[in-house]
Amino acid sequence: MNDQQVRDEVMTLLIAGHETVSTALTWTWYLLSQHPEIERRLHHELDEVLEGHLPTVGHLTSLSYTRMVTEEVLRLYPPAWVFARKAIAADEIGGYFIPANSMIVLSPYMTHRHSAFWNDAEVFDPERFASGRTAGRPHYAYFPFGGGPRVCIGNNFALMEFQLVLATLAQHYRLRPVPGHPVELKALLSLHPRYGLPMTLHGR
Ligand code: HEM
Repeated sequence: MNDQQVRDEVMTLLIAGHETVSTALTWTWYLLSQHPEIERRLHHELDEVLEGHLPTVGHLTSLSYTRMVTEEVLRLYPPAWVFARKAIAADEIGGYFIPANSMIVLSPYMTHRHSAFWNDAEVFDPERFASGRTAGRPHYAYFPFGGGPRVCIGNNFALMEFQLVLATLAQHYRLRPVPGHPVELKALLSLHPRYGLPMTLHGR
């Protein structure tokens, strides 16, 4: 690779790989702090499966609730909340005429909260991703990693990293937002908390 290519690869990995997982984790701590029942169930699974050991990749298949939590976070707060495709030719999709060269904007954020696909779409409920519960849902009702030939190349790595960081920290700590601090979305390239999300660590 020449210097420009190395630079471009580093930038892509930093933005695509770091920003996404870090903002997803930020919203995870916030959601858990607002849903103590879900947090308790997560802690229970971590205690049962890990028995005090550091989580490793080998534990992930047994950490099914941890996985459901991460999938539900990516439903409500998909870091890549919007992306676009340019039509190379005229087409018709679902009865809509698409002129050549038009830009089609797809939003996981909107689709993931659409009442046509999700009951109580605004509610944080990891049970939606329990095995057997996903059957019958249209494939593209949920696409935090995109789809087609340009699907996120880091998809599986991201899920592994996300679950391991969550399990490692939640095994020992719960996080609580600083009281009175405003929590609002800011939709940049990824979905940020507009005023940051300062939290305090509490040992379990
Ligand atoms: C929760 C974490 C992540 C989410 C939600 C996510 C989401 C996405 C989405 C939606 C796309 C496709 C964009 C499009 O179609 O225009 C994408 C592409 C990409 N992602 Fe991720 N991503 C995540 C983590 C990662 C990680 C950890 C890496 C690398 C280590 C990564 C590397 C990439 C790269 C290189 C592309 C471009 C692929 C291409 O254009 O062929 N992503 N990501």
